[in-house]
Amino acid sequence: MVTILEINKKFKGLRWKLVSTYLLLVLLTILLINAFINESLRMNYVNEKKVSLLTQGNIIADRLSPFIPEINNDYINENVTDIVKKLSIELRSRVMVSDINGRILIDSYDTFQGQRLNKEELSLALLGKNVANQHYLEMYGRVMYVSVPIVSRGRILGAVFISSSLEEIFSTIKITMQKFMLLSFFGLAITAFISFVFADIISKPIEKLTEAVMRMAKGKFNQKVEVYGDDEISRLGRAFNLMTTKLDQVDKQRREFVGNVSHELRTPLSSIKILSESLIHQDHAPEELYKEFLKDIDSEVDRLNKIIDSLLYLVDLEKEAIDLDYQLTYVNYLIEKVINSLRPLADKKNIRINFVEKIKTQVMLDKFKIQQALINIISNAIKYTSENGQVDIELDVDKDNFIIKIKDTGIGIPEEELPFIFDRFYRVDKARDRKSGGTGLGLSITQQLIALHQGEIHVESVVNEGTTFYILLPLKATV
Ligand SMILES: Nc1ncnc2c1ncn2[C@@H]1O[C@H](COP(=O)(O)OP(=O)(O)O)[C@@H](O)[C@H]1O
Ligand SMILES: [Mg+2]
Repeated sequence: MVTILEINKKFKGLRWKLVSTYLLLVLLTILLINAFINESLRMNYVNEKKVSLLTQGNIIADRLSPFIPEINNDYINENVTDIVKKLSIELRSRVMVSDINGRILIDSYDTFQGQRLNKEELSLALLGKNVANQHYLEMYGRVMYVSVPIVSRGRILGAVFISSSLEEIFSTIKITMQKFMLLSFFGLAITAFISFVFADIISKPIEKLTEAVMRMAKGKFNQKVEVYGDDEISRLGRAFNLMTTKLDQVDKQRREFVGNVSHELRTPLSSIKILSESLIHQDHAPEELYKEFLKDIDSEVDRLNKIIDSLLYLVDLEKEAIDLDYQLTYVNYLIEKVINSLRPLADKKNIRINFVEKIKTQVMLDKFKIQQALINIISNAIKYTSENGQVDIELDVDKDNFIIKIKDTGIGIPEEELPFIFDRFYRVDKARDRKSGGTGLGLSITQQLIALHQGEIHVESVVNEGTTFYILLPLKATV
C-alpha cells in the first residue's frame, strides 16, 4: 500500500508532468506529420498514375483508330488484339476497346469480348471525354478506371478502357510510412530520455529547496542551497539563501536580546535581594539602616521600571505601532527648551552649553518625539563629559534637511565601538555606564525616533577629545 502510494506520488511530481507534456507534444507532432505525409504521398502517386494512364490511353486510342471500322475482319482483329495485349502487359493493367455502342471489341484478359461493358467512365468516353476515377472492389482492392475516346477525323468510333490496380502504390506508401513511424518512435524514445534528464535538472533544485524549507520549519534557520547558473530557479535559490541569512541574523539578535534583557533585569533584582536578605538576617538593626536599605531598594525598583518602560516603548517603535503627530514646529525654540530643561544637570558639572542658530526654521514634525531624541543625545553629551567641559549645539540646513549638531568635549567613544552604540543595551564601559544610571536603550530609541521621521543620525568621536552627533531631518516631511 505504502509503495503504491509512493509510486503514485512520484508519478505526480513535476518531473513526470514535464516528461509527459513533452512526450504528448512530440507524439502529437509525429501523428500530424504522419497524416500529412501519408496524404501527400497518396495524392502524388495516384495523380502520377492517373496522368500516365490517361496518356497511355490516348496513345492506344491513336494507334487503334485506323483499325476500328474493320475490326470485325479476323486478320486485323488478331493483330490489333496482340498489340493491345502487349500494351496491357507493359502497363500491368487490363485494357479493353469498345465500339461506339459500348460493346467490347478487344479485352486483354479475353473474357469480355462481345459483351456490353456498363461503366460510367466508358459511357463518358463515348461522349468524347477523358475520364479517370478511383474505385474500391471487394476482390481486387483499390483500382483506377481510365477511359478515353477513339476519334478519327472528328468522329468518335469507340473508346479505350483501362483498369489498373492501385494496390501496389498503397503498399509502397504503407512501407514508407512504416519506416517513418519506426524512425518517429525512435525519436520519441530519445525525446523521452532527454526530457527526463532535463526535467530532472529542473525538479532537483526544487526538491532540494523544499527539503531545506522543511528543515527550516523545524527551527534550523541556517539553511543554504547550492546555486548554479542564472535562471529563474537559481535566482529563487539565491533569494532563499539571502532570506535564510537574514532569518538567521534575526534569530541570533532575538536570542541576544532576550539574554540582554534577562541580564539587565537581573542586576537590580539581585541588588534588591541582597539588600532585603541582609535586613532579614540582621536582628535589632537600627532604623536608619532600614531606611537607607529601603531607599536603595526603591531606587532599584525605579530602575527596573525605567528599563521595562523603555523596552516596551522601543518594541512599539520597532513595530512602527506608534503614529507620528506632525505639527508645525519652531525648531530653534524646541532646542532651547531642551537645553533649558537639562541646564541644571550641566550646571552640576559646570559644563557650558552653547547654542548657535545658523538658521531659524519651522518644519512639520512630531515635537514630543524629536524633543525626546534631543534630550537623549544632549543628556548623553553632559553625562559623558567631565567637569568644566563644553557642549556645542548648532542648527544648520542643507538642500533637503535641517541638521542639528551636538558636539561635546567628553570622554569620546573608541572607533571600534562606534558601530554598536545604537544597539539595544550596548554600553562602551559596562560597569561605569550602568552606574551612571543609563539603561543602554537611549540611543536605540533615538535612532528609531529619527528613522520614523525619515531622518538619519550619524556619529563621529575621538577618545578623550569628544563626540559629535549629527541629526538630519527632512525639511519637507512626507506626512
Ligand atoms: N556623548 C557621548 N560620549 C561618549 N560616549 C557616549 C556618548 N553618547 C553615548 N555614549 C556611549 O554609548 C552608550 C549607549 O548610549 P545610550 O544608549 O544613551 O545608553 P546609556 O543609557 O548608557 O546612556 C553609552 O553607554 C556610552 O558608552
Ligand atoms: Mg543615554
